[in-house]
Amino acid sequence: MIIEPRTRGFICLTSHPKGCEQNVIDQIEYIKSKGAIDGAKKVLVIGASTGFGLASRITSAFGSGASTIGVFFEKPPAEGRPASPGWYNSAAFEKEAHKAGLYAKSINGDAFSNEIKKQTLDLIKADLGQVDMVIYSLASPVRTHPDTGVRYKSVLKPIGDKFQNKTVDFHTGVVSEVSIEPAQGDDIDNTVAVMGGEDWKMWIDALKNEGLLAEGFTTIAYSYIGPSLTEAVYRKGTIGRAKDHLEATAFTISDSLKPLNGKAYVSVNKALVTQASSAIPVIPLYISLLYKVMKEEGIHEGCIEQIQRLFQDRLYADTTPTDDEGRIRIDDWEMRADVQARVAELWKEATTETLPKIGDLKGYEKDFFNLFGFMVEGVDYDEDVNELVEIPGLQ
Ligand code: NAI
Ligand code: NA
Repeated sequence: MIIEPRTRGFICLTSHPKGCEQNVIDQIEYIKSKGAIDGAKKVLVIGASTGFGLASRITSAFGSGASTIGVFFEKPPAEGRPASPGWYNSAAFEKEAHKAGLYAKSINGDAFSNEIKKQTLDLIKADLGQVDMVIYSLASPVRTHPDTGVRYKSVLKPIGDKFQNKTVDFHTGVVSEVSIEPAQGDDIDNTVAVMGGEDWKMWIDALKNEGLLAEGFTTIAYSYIGPSLTEAVYRKGTIGRAKDHLEATAFTISDSLKPLNGKAYVSVNKALVTQASSAIPVIPLYISLLYKVMKEEGIHEGCIEQIQRLFQDRLYADTTPTDDEGRIRIDDWEMRADVQARVAELWKEATTETLPKIGDLKGYEKDFFNLFGFMVEGVDYDEDVNELVEIPGLQ
C-alpha cells in the first residue's frame, strides 16, 4: 500500500515501515561511527521500541555488542492498516541485529502486568541466564496495577495554582494562551502510580528473586527537569511528582542491589520530540525555541546522540559523575545558562507571526513526522510498501 501521514491532534494514526527502518539504520550507523563502548552484554530494555528506549537498545547492541531483549506495547499491522511505529522500528532493529550476529528478541504486551513480566523472566532464564543491565524507559498514560487491577490514569496538570502561558499547535503554527486547571482529588497519586518508580522496582525485584541479575548489575531509568518556563506544568506539576518518586526509587533499588554490587541510576535527559512529549502542553513551544538555539550553538542532539553520550561519557566511563541528588545529567547542554537565557528571551517574543523565524517549528514538525517514519531522507513515499512486516524475534 501507499502510506501517507494521517494526523489527529498530537498523534499520527499511520506510520511508514520503510521510513521507520531508515530511522533505525541511521541510528545504528551513528552508533557504529562513534566506536565501541565497553558496556553491558546482556541487556533488557523495557520500553524498547521508540524514543530513548529504542536508542538505548541500539546503543547497547551496536555500541557494546550486547544481546538484547526488548519489551514494548505496540499495535501490529493488519491488512491495509499500518502498525504503530514502534512495531516497525523493532522489526528493523531485529533484522539488523540478526544480520550482525547479535541476539535480539522482543515481547509485545503490557509491561505493567504480571504475565509480561513472567514471560520476560522465562525468556531470560532460557536464553541469557542472567542480565547485567535493565533500561527502564516506559512512557504511558495509563497503568493497570497488577495486584489490585485498579486502572490509573496519569494527568499533566499544575499543582496548587492554575497554569497560564503560551503554547503552540505545531501543525498550524498558531501560538495561543493555554490555561490548565490545577490537580484535584487523586490526580497526583494517579500520576505517580503510572509514571513513578513502583513498576521499575517490581521488575527489578522479580528479576532478583529469580536470580536473574548478574554480579555488578546496573539499571537505569530516565527523568526530566527542564527550565522555570515549564516548571509549573512539568517538574512542579503532577508528572514532576512522578519523576520525584522515580528518582527516589533509584535509591531504594540501589540498596536492594548491594549484595550484588549493583546500582540503580536515573539519568536526566534533554527535552526531545517523542510521542510522549508531544502530548504535553507548552513543551512543544519550548522545544521549538530550544532546538533553534541549540542548533545555532551546534549542540543539538536527538535521542541517539543523547544515549551514546550517556553510555560513553557517563555510565561506562571510568567514573560516573552525578549531581547533588545522585542523578546523571545529560541535559547539561540544554540547561546551560546561555542557552536558557536565550530561550527565555525568545519566549517573550513568540507569537504566531514571529515563531517561524525565531523558533525551529520546521525542525519540530520534521522530528514529529520522523517518529512515524515520514519525511525521512532517502525514502520513496510513492512506492508501494508491504505494511504486514513481522518482527523476526517476536515471542
Ligand atoms: P516514547 O513514547 O518514545 O517511548 C515509550 C516506550 O514505552 C515505547 O517503547 C512504548 O511501546 C513503551 N510502552 C508504553 N506503555 C507500555 C506498556 N504498558 N507496556 C510496555 N511498553 C509500553 O517515550 P520517551 O520520550 O522515549 O520516554 C521514555 C522515558 O524518557 C520516560 O520516562 C520519559 O519521561 C523520559 N524522558 C523523556 C524526555 C522527552 O523529552 N521525550 C526527556 C527526558 C526524559
Ligand atoms: Na522509550
